[in-house]
Amino acid sequence: MALLVIAPDLEMTPFVEQLHTLDPELEIRIWPEFGNADDIEFALTWYHPPGELKKFINLKCIASFGAGVDHILRDPNLPPGVLLTRVVESSMPQFMSEYVILAVLNYCRQFDIYKEDKINKQWQPRIPLLARDIRIGIMGLGQLGADAATKLIQLGFEVIGWSRTPKTISGVLSFAGDDALANFLSQANILICLLPLTSATKGILNRNTFEKLPAGAYLINVARGEHLIEKDLLDALKSGYLSGACLDVFNVEPLPEDHPFWNHPNIMITPHISSLTDPKAVMPQILENYHRMKSGKPLLHVVDVERGY
Ligand code: NAP
Ligand code: GLV
Repeated sequence: MALLVIAPDLEMTPFVEQLHTLDPELEIRIWPEFGNADDIEFALTWYHPPGELKKFINLKCIASFGAGVDHILRDPNLPPGVLLTRVVESSMPQFMSEYVILAVLNYCRQFDIYKEDKINKQWQPRIPLLARDIRIGIMGLGQLGADAATKLIQLGFEVIGWSRTPKTISGVLSFAGDDALANFLSQANILICLLPLTSATKGILNRNTFEKLPAGAYLINVARGEHLIEKDLLDALKSGYLSGACLDVFNVEPLPEDHPFWNHPNIMITPHISSLTDPKAVMPQILENYHRMKSGKPLLHVVDVERGY
C-alpha cells in the first residue's frame, strides 16, 4: 500500500519530508514515478493531469492539497466511488484573513498611491476611507470567509456575508441563496469572493454583479480565477463603476505576460499566495486520513461531490 503525491506544478519536497518525519514507515510514491499502480490506495493531489487517477484501480481516497477541490472535480474521468477530502485547519484561515485585511487596509489607507508619491518625491496627505463608513460583503462564509468576517469586524468594519444557507456569525448580517444576492450586493462597498468554484459560482463576478454594487466599489478575488469574467472587470474599471481590484487568482495561471491586468493602474496582483498550504500544519491531517483509510475508519473533511465543495 502506498501514498501517491501527484502535483506536477508544485515543489513537493517540504511536504514529502514532513510526511516522512511524521511517519518514517510511510511508503510515498511521487508521480510520474509511481511504480506498480495497484499499490496506490491514497492520492495527495493538486491539479493532477485529467484521466491520470483512473490508472489506480485500488484508489480509495483523493486528498486535495488545498481547501478547494475544483482542481480534482474538473477531471471528467475520476475513478468512481473514491472519497474526496480537502484541507480544513487553522493556518489556512489565518493566512487568508491576513491577506484580506491587508488588501482592505491597503485600499482604505491608499498605500498604493503613497508608493507612487514616494517615487515622485511628493508629500501629499490624503483623507483615508474610514472603517466605520465601509461595508464589506463576503461571498462565501465557510472556513475562510467566516474567519475573515470576524477579524474585519474587530477592525471596525461593517460586514455582511452571502452563502447558500443562512449563517450565524456574531456581528455579520447573513444573506442566503440566489434570491438574496442582489440585496447583498447593493450594500457592499468592498466585495470579497471566498466561494468555492462550482457550476453555480463560475463566472459569478460579472457585469451584472458589478452593476448591483454601489458605484465605486472595490473587488477582492481570492477564490478562483474562473469566478471572474475578466473582460467585465476591465469594462467596469474603465467606466469608473468599480474603483479597483485586488486579485490573487486568474483564469490562466501564471498570468500571461501580455495580459492587460499587469499594466492596469487600479489592479493589484499577487500570484495565488493569499493562503498557502503549510507542510507542518497540513500534513498531519493528510496522514491521519491515510491511517483512517487503512483501518476502515471514517475520513475527515470529506467533500460532497454532488455539491462540488
Ligand atoms: P468552504 O468552507 O467550503 O465554504 C464555502 C462557502 O461558500 C460556504 O459558506 C458555502 O455556503 C458558500 N457557497 C458555496 N456555493 C455557494 C452558492 N452557490 N451560493 C452561495 N454561497 C455558496 O470553503 P473555504 O474552505 O472557505 O474555501 C473557499 C474557497 O477559497 C476554496 O474553494 C478555494 O477555491 C479558495 N481558496 C483560495 C486560496 C488562495 O490561495 N487563493 C486558498 C484557499 C482556498 P454554505 O455553507 O451555505 O454551503
Ligand atoms: C488554494 O488555492 C486552496 O484551494 O487551498
